Amino acid sequence: MTGPGTDGGPTPPGAAEEDRIYAGPAARPRRLRWTPALRAMFAESPPARDRLVLPVFVRPGDGPPTPIPSMPGILSYPVDRVAALGRALGREGVRGVLLFGRASRKDPEGGEAGSDRDVVVRALPRLRAAHPDLVLFTDVCLCAYTTHGHCGIVHDGAVANDATLGRLMAIAAAHSRAGADFVAPSAMMDGQVAAVRRALDRDGEAGTGILAYAAKFASALYGPFRDAEMSRPSFGDRRGYQLDPANGRAALRALADAADEGADILMVKPALTSLDLLARARRRFDLPLAAFQVSGEYAMLRAAADRGWIDLPDAIRETLTAIRRAGADLTVSYFARSAALGRERAR
Ligand code: PBG
Ligand code: ZN
Repeated sequence: MTGPGTDGGPTPPGAAEEDRIYAGPAARPRRLRWTPALRAMFAESPPARDRLVLPVFVRPGDGPPTPIPSMPGILSYPVDRVAALGRALGREGVRGVLLFGRASRKDPEGGEAGSDRDVVVRALPRLRAAHPDLVLFTDVCLCAYTTHGHCGIVHDGAVANDATLGRLMAIAAAHSRAGADFVAPSAMMDGQVAAVRRALDRDGEAGTGILAYAAKFASALYGPFRDAEMSRPSFGDRRGYQLDPANGRAALRALADAADEGADILMVKPALTSLDLLARARRRFDLPLAAFQVSGEYAMLRAAADRGWIDLPDAIRETLTAIRRAGADLTVSYFARSAALGRERAR
């Protein structure tokens, strides 16, 4: 008799003649991965739809949703198309969305952000009506609303921390009043979580939570997002506020600061280049942990798959599993709608 096949043959490991050569310890760990049923039973960190949040781009104007060239398969939605999206997500079982807006008219202060014209403010009640259970997260930043593309108010060529906080507070309060369940300040200003918490509490929005982009690295992997949002800085870069990828301890401090300032959920970003931090943060903090599988991570996998170089469903499953294994409770991912997740049980 030959040995077992690669996938659940009838012969248990060790029973075949040629397996008598085995001189290892009594443990035969393959017993736990012999069949699809066993693999499903003993999976430690299966990716789960309930724990995924889909980033959604909301754009000014009307017409059909528009493709984003550097993110094949991802669309940018005008406000009057988000209700249809919300209903589709309800049918698919997607639990949460993280909304990103951009200004119809940018200015140096990003004045449209949080105003009645802000596409995020306008989209929130429509999504709430279309899918009442959908958990609504909103990105709170200025970069898609400012002419210079920086995440804050620029004074003398530099992003001014405390002037920016005032804007983030107003935007977060406006998102909350429009129906956000969680606001996610992402400008990487010092004290942004405390400031936003104070604004929400003062504004009668104490029930709204904060998803803190706390360990957010200055990354090359945000490129496709900046194409979608037209938010590339027109001068300089974001290294004066986002974290240096060399600095793991600074990232842990940023997470601790956000926790102290009242964050409800701590986020690490990008995901695959920060798995070490997720694992360390998992041991250090008892708050829920989130990871953001960012636009560049999506684009890399999609581009390779579109060339036939990798299998996309397998790659999605593997990367989302690794993010969970490292310690994330919640994963923000452009793959949140993917059919690959439905196939998980069958494998
Ligand atoms: C805005 C923001 C960015 C991302 C999330 N919020 C872009 C940036 O910091 O330039 C990146 C998300 C992605 O790449 O998918 N500050
Ligand atoms: Zn920004």
